[in-house]
Formats: sequence, structure tokens, C-alpha cells
Amino acid sequence: MLPTLRQRISPIKMIKKERRLIIAGNWKMNKTVAEALALVNGLKIEVGKVKELDIVVCPPFTALSEVSKAILDSNIRLGAQNMSENSFGAFTGEIAAGMLRELSVRHVILGHSERRQYQKESDELISKKALAAHATSLKPIVCVGETLAEREGGLTETVIETQVRGSLAGLSKEQMVETVVAYEPVWAIGTGKTATAAQAQEVHAFIRAILVSIFDDTVARRVRIQYGGSVKASNATELMALPDVDGALVGGAALDVRSFSDIIKNSIPN
Ligand code: PGA
Repeated sequence: MLPTLRQRISPIKMIKKERRLIIAGNWKMNKTVAEALALVNGLKIEVGKVKELDIVVCPPFTALSEVSKAILDSNIRLGAQNMSENSFGAFTGEIAAGMLRELSVRHVILGHSERRQYQKESDELISKKALAAHATSLKPIVCVGETLAEREGGLTETVIETQVRGSLAGLSKEQMVETVVAYEPVWAIGTGKTATAAQAQEVHAFIRAILVSIFDDTVARRVRIQYGGSVKASNATELMALPDVDGALVGGAALDVRSFSDIIKNSIPN
């Protein structure tokens, strides 16, 4: 099956340069407002003027407002880590896309494996959130990835295809090109175990082939697919150089000025 898919996507690989890398930091449930400002002010000094790629930070909700103001005069963009599929109303504890837009949030991570695991988020719910995000001009970063048991059971392609088709269901072609897909093998998240370059490229190419089949070649070659899972300065250059890897979603290494800046600097295309 894979050689056929690789053949199908080979023309897309040739024009990778069309896609601008997007490096996003997923801070998860870390950083008080004061700590968030210290981090983002440090990032501004180190990489705030980088123009060769897109930089996004995704603080917890409580720090979005202050971080939003702090990055106004830089090239760093703001993302949230989740949002409701509903636009307003009696949904205690939830945050709507419009509330995020009011703070100049541009991206929103959806369907992170931790939310799939702990909040039992389904592909169907994630697709509703993705549609709600687009309706409010927020660009979703939709996460997919297999667990270790699924990989070892030979289920990687089945799981990825189900998640990609389900989580992106209902998106128009125009919405899809404004959507980022993040491939995050669950076994590589926070474990220090990174997918090898070959493993990452194989799944990224597979995801792009699925996008060809759902949408078309033109859409698939424009969609940016991030890799996530123990990305650090020492492996970023190799991963970002892969033909179908168009950025990174970084967790642990995004919590420190030095390590996140070094990932960005090491990812800048030559
Ligand atoms: P990690 O997390 O970089 O700490 O592995 C990545 C993520 O969960 O987005």
C-alpha cells in the first residue's frame, strides 16, 4: 500500500518550497501570567523579528490577553489550546471562538491527543470545532496520531486515516488550505522518543495522500502538516528538512526561551 501512496504524492514533494514552515509552542497547562510574559518577552528578543517562518505561541487561556498585547510589535502570533464547538450560551467553563478572536488569537489547537484521551474528544466533535473556528476566522491546528499499541499492531495507517477523515469532515477546500494538520505520534509526546525521519516522512506523505483523496492535489499541496512529539533543537533541522514536514508543534521544549528559540533558528530554511 505505501509504495503506491508514495508514487502518488511524489509530484507534490517537488514543490515543497510553496509551504511556509509553521513552528508552534503548545504550553499546555503551564505558566502563570507573569511566567508567560517572561517567556514571550524573551522570545521576542531572540526570534521576534524572524520572517522566514511562522511562529505561534499557545499559552493557557488565562495568559492569552497579556501575551496578546506583549507580542503586538513582533512576528510572533497567538494560538489557543482548545475552544468550544458552540458560539455562546449555557456551556459552563467553555470558551468560544469569538472570545478568542477578540484577543487577536489566530490559531487554535484542536483534538490534541491529551484532549482525545482525557476529555474523550471524538473526531466528530473535533470537526465541529474546526468548522466553528473557521466560521470565526480562527485557523485550526488539527492533531492526529497513533498510540504505541496501535503502531505495534500495524494500525497506524487505519488510525491516521480515520482521524484525518473524521476530524476534517465538512471542511470546504478554502477552509482546508487555512487548516494546519499536526501529526503527533502519541508515543513520542513528552517521552523523549522522537519518530525517526523516515517514520515521520512516511506518515506525513500518507496524510497528504489522504488530503488528495478528500480534496484535490492543489489543496493537498498547500496544507501545512506539522510534526509533534519530543521536537528539540537537536532534531529540528533534520525533521523540518523532510519533504512533507512543514513545521513543528512543540510541547516541553517550548516552555523555555533558549530551547524554543533554538528550535526556530535551527528550522529556518537555507
Ligand atoms: P512534546 O509535546 O514536545 O513535549 O513531546 C508535543 C505536544 O504534545 O504538542
